[in-house]
Amino acid sequence: MSQPDLSRLDIESLWHPLTQHQGIDAAPPRFIERGEGCYLYDAAGNRFYDAVSGLWCVNVGHGREELAQVAAEQMKKLSYLPGTMSHEPGVRLAARLVELLGYPARVYYSNSGSEANEAAFKMARQYQSQVTGGTGRYKIIARHRGYHGCTLGALSATGNWERRHGYEPLVPGFIFTDAPDPYRGVDRCAEKLEETILREGANSVAAFITEPIVAGGGLLFPPDDYLPAVREVCTRHGVLLIVDEVVTGFGRTGKMFAHQHWGIQPDIVTMAKGMASGYMPLAATVAREEVFKAFDGAPASHRHFRHVNTFGGHPVATAVGLENIAIIEREGLVERVATLEKSLMTRLEKLLSHPNVGDVRGKGLLFGVELVADKQTKEPAPADQVAAVLAGCAKRGVIIGRTAETSPGRGNILIAAPPFISGEAEFDLLASSIEEALADAFSDASAA
Ligand SMILES: Cc1ncc(COP(=O)(O)O)c(C=O)c1O
Repeated sequence: MSQPDLSRLDIESLWHPLTQHQGIDAAPPRFIERGEGCYLYDAAGNRFYDAVSGLWCVNVGHGREELAQVAAEQMKKLSYLPGTMSHEPGVRLAARLVELLGYPARVYYSNSGSEANEAAFKMARQYQSQVTGGTGRYKIIARHRGYHGCTLGALSATGNWERRHGYEPLVPGFIFTDAPDPYRGVDRCAEKLEETILREGANSVAAFITEPIVAGGGLLFPPDDYLPAVREVCTRHGVLLIVDEVVTGFGRTGKMFAHQHWGIQPDIVTMAKGMASGYMPLAATVAREEVFKAFDGAPASHRHFRHVNTFGGHPVATAVGLENIAIIEREGLVERVATLEKSLMTRLEKLLSHPNVGDVRGKGLLFGVELVADKQTKEPAPADQVAAVLAGCAKRGVIIGRTAETSPGRGNILIAAPPFISGEAEFDLLASSIEEALADAFSDASAA
């Protein structure tokens, strides 16, 4: 079937995420035929630098033969097994994850970041009910501008107007506090967390969930004392600390897990995306041994974790996950990301000379470029201009992203999260494309 025929079939039969289908005929979704390394290719042979690694997941790059081979071999050997049984890649990957985290822990598998967070919330509530004798620690504190997934529980922990609107009322018991935003002067956030815990009553709070760095909600990098202070507050109030490493895990920020930059040990870590570099759906909720121990009991006590996913810990996904970690280690990709941070930062910081670039921030290969209408007032740039920058980059063969509208008008931050195998040539292309696209987008607006 030809590409135009497939595009017609797409428009007639698919329902795309985050997409307004009205007018889709005029601008159909980009149709990609294949991926190789840092690049995607369409049917006409046009090449695009995938500077967001898919949805910040294809960390080792597209088209890896080794991962395809491991998947095919595993599929032939053992194609499926329920999580109540055991298989080699599932066990070996779990042991590897515990080693990488560096403290005794247990791995519960699922298939997506949302599911990993759902499991974390249920673990936290059941843990608290079992250690406190059911005295009512059920609330989950989350953060404004945080994103934790699309399912109703994970969405209830998401501080993001655009994602929540129209699906409310959500799950009761989710409370919000601030996430640090140094550019906009939102600070004292560990103290605000403690105030929130005290206001709610510590004995009603099960857990606090945080991304180490807010990703889709704004690329917000905390000050260095934030996570250690949060760890201390949670410990002092008997609140479990859940760290969502769905975007930041597996080397994205220059450490295997982002929380390791700040030397803390979470009670529960959730991970997905880069866990198999997007080659297979794979996720995990990893709980410290002390949390796991609270689920001990006689079979009839019902103290075990009463949760299941048909595909969690799939043999093919876990085999690919293991090989993905082997690639990251064999090729020194975490160290590479740490080194590349400076070279991407140097290029993107030059954009600050543009009157509408308010801030450039990044860690490892996770970057945000905040666009403003006015540098003094920091008023966010209008959505159509931000969209024009994205389109201008695509026209120059570069795919970048933008943040969600956590509150109306706040989708003004460009996202770059390139594959770890990117090099100087790709960074040059990325920086020059954004620079030219900015010039077009903002000069068009002033002319209009
Ligand atoms: C920080 C974070 N947590 C959780 C999720 C949800 O993951 P998934 O889309 O795999 O359900 C995402 C997705 O972008 C995310 O960015």
